[in-house]
Amino acid sequence: MNIPVNEPLLTEADYASVMAALRSGWISGAGPHIEAFEARWANYCDRRHGIAVANGSVALQVAVSLLDLQPGDEVILPTFTIISCVLPILLADARPVLVDSDPQTWTMDVTQIESRITPRTRAIMAVHIYGHPVDMDPLLEIAERHNLQVVEDAAEAHGAEYRGRRAGSFGTSSCFSFYANKLVTTGEGGMLLVDDDRLAEHARSLRNLGFQPHRRFLHTELGFNFRLTNLQAALGLAQIERMDDIVARKRRIGQAYTERLSEMPGIELQVQQSWARSVYWMYGLVVREDTGIDAAEFANRLKQRGVETRPFFLGMHEQPVLRERGLFDGERYPVAERIARQGLYLPSGLALEEAQIDRVCEAVREALA
Ligand SMILES: Cc1ncc(COP(=O)(O)O)c(C=O)c1O
Repeated sequence: MNIPVNEPLLTEADYASVMAALRSGWISGAGPHIEAFEARWANYCDRRHGIAVANGSVALQVAVSLLDLQPGDEVILPTFTIISCVLPILLADARPVLVDSDPQTWTMDVTQIESRITPRTRAIMAVHIYGHPVDMDPLLEIAERHNLQVVEDAAEAHGAEYRGRRAGSFGTSSCFSFYANKLVTTGEGGMLLVDDDRLAEHARSLRNLGFQPHRRFLHTELGFNFRLTNLQAALGLAQIERMDDIVARKRRIGQAYTERLSEMPGIELQVQQSWARSVYWMYGLVVREDTGIDAAEFANRLKQRGVETRPFFLGMHEQPVLRERGLFDGERYPVAERIARQGLYLPSGLALEEAQIDRVCEAVREALA
């Protein structure tokens, strides 16, 4: 039997919650489960407002819309991320400005941010990677000094902590994905969190076609239909109830991998920093070049041994669709380039059993030999 890279772990309580929502008749993008899901998730992440949306990518779209970027404005973000971070910047005719990754945490190298600031810089997008948070204090200090807004992409970091504070509690806004491989999943889904009342109201309007609370079908700006359904919210809500268990389970999986892999020659692991508590969303590794194999070859060898993997992100500066637009010409980000070629992640889903972790690590050892 192959070991899948992710398998969601749903419970009877999850099914019951969805059935209750279904029976209530609230089956579209309004209803009590949505409001409860928003309030509970905002509270879990120490935020005042939650705005549930259809997925994590559109949560980022709303977050960037709230920045009110003008053509030519710039947003600093890591090259090593998903394209969802760049799309809303381009749609605003603004410019994504990249920084490389930290070689230990694979999150953005915050020491590179300041040199990328220009008079057009408006915001920094901090992306927590594979469950490990960005080093937020220096990032926030730079943002404050240069009067920049901060968007936090915590899609992969539900429950992760930075110096005792939850991921998603920093910056002007934060974004989450509830895709099937996330710690909390609604199948497809996402959420934007903010503290400011007016930003929350604006985000709710943007999510719902630009409708105004006081007069439906009157529009003063262009919005989107990014609504999450009440059925999806019911699924997510039930999982927040057992969030501590979910995080603990994920950390046990992460620790089990670390114990088995940290001494293995030929690979590097994501190094959890003293200020971080990772949730090990996906357990990644980087194959050293001196093994003579790259991640694609390594993935093949693992597949032959029944272990599914996924490749790492390919940096935004290496994306043909972005380079064709004249972006990132001649720019090099050596850490991101290296981990993109040499990195992959192992089966990491909540349903993963210890015996499967043993099998995966044995396959890793054989594949490296
Ligand atoms: C860092 C990051 N941001 C944003 C997203 C987009 O989320 P979604 O797939 O829900 O659109 C993802 C997706 O997994 C992600 O990993």
